[in-house]
Amino acid sequence: MNDLTDIKTRFPALSDGWSRFDGAAGTQVVDTAIDAMSDWQRSGNNANSHGAFPAAQACDDLVEETSEVMAKLLSADSNGMIYGPSTTANMMTLTRAAAFALEPDDEIICTKLDHDANVAPWILAARDSGSIIRMAEFDPESGRLKAESVIDLINPRTKWIAVTGSSNIIGSIPDVASISKAAHSVGAKVVVDGVHLTPHRKVNIEEMGCDVYATSSYKWYGPHAGIMWVDPELLDDLDVYKVRPSPEKGPGRFQYGTPPWETLAGIREAAKFLLSVGFESIVKHESARFERLLSGLMGMSKVRVLGPHDNKDRAPTLMFLVEGNEPDEIAKKIAEAKVAVWNGHNYAVEAMEPLGLGEQGAVRAGVCVYIDDEDVDRLLEAVSLI
Ligand SMILES: Cc1ncc(COP(=O)(O)O)c(C=O)c1O
Repeated sequence: MNDLTDIKTRFPALSDGWSRFDGAAGTQVVDTAIDAMSDWQRSGNNANSHGAFPAAQACDDLVEETSEVMAKLLSADSNGMIYGPSTTANMMTLTRAAAFALEPDDEIICTKLDHDANVAPWILAARDSGSIIRMAEFDPESGRLKAESVIDLINPRTKWIAVTGSSNIIGSIPDVASISKAAHSVGAKVVVDGVHLTPHRKVNIEEMGCDVYATSSYKWYGPHAGIMWVDPELLDDLDVYKVRPSPEKGPGRFQYGTPPWETLAGIREAAKFLLSVGFESIVKHESARFERLLSGLMGMSKVRVLGPHDNKDRAPTLMFLVEGNEPDEIAKKIAEAKVAVWNGHNYAVEAMEPLGLGEQGAVRAGVCVYIDDEDVDRLLEAVSLI
């Protein structure tokens, strides 16, 4: 097992001395991903796919290699990997295709724990097809979305279920495998927003049983891009908007234009980085720092921690408020200590009302691989001074 002691040295951007608890909004980039992107651009391989010369072959090889590494990272069939600009863009492409087959009485289940990237695209698909959205509630006290609150909404008219792999604001991880099982019993498809889950847990799509899984490599030490895995059979069935010469089968029908090759090289290396550190080490390291953070904040009488108050079945991300201060003021005061946190709703707009939060949301702090005990203590000290 890797104890992650020297892990900070792998992130050139961290040499500025800031403590970066903003990883849930985007992490710093690992050295091998930075190098792979610039190496690609220097290499002469910048060509296009399916050509008769070596640089064109290198583009095809790059896609294949990246999809194979992604398949290992997510334990999924490598033939379902689609690359796009972001998860939001990929979800919009998916739901526009899904809308073609939806009928006015059909139902889509979304959840109040999800980031809007897995809610609004479905609302738009429902608008265009006349189908109905059902919202599954989470328990604001425990911060948990029970599988039953989704399963209880399933009926023979349910066609799609859109659920988070892990909340991007309070970290809780729902039981997606049970949801998938219930969904498939009525022929519904399950779309998991795995953007916040992927950097923190070993994902196993086969075990989750979902039909679509979306993630964004800039949340796990790579470049800004979205990767969406779609079950290859479903992928070929979806009536996707595409240009006529693009492939009729496989991921190519979902990808618009020439892929950003250098970004694929960065994705490949970021995924390799996660695999080489290993999730046993990642979970051990992040859990220990997160427990220090959670217990430190819970020990301050003026601080209210939102979401789960324990470290079970959750990613190492929490939201909090400090009595008598607006979230933006709290974040500004914390930044004075060279500590980066986020304030706001972080696009989890449906979760604000159940959590008793307004437009301003709360403050979010997330632990990732390069957060150490000193970072945690610096954040706790800054909060204690507010
Ligand atoms: C859980 C979750 N889903 C989706 C997104 C959107 O990702 P992207 O910026 O790649 O569209 C985010 C980004 O913050 C997120 O945290």
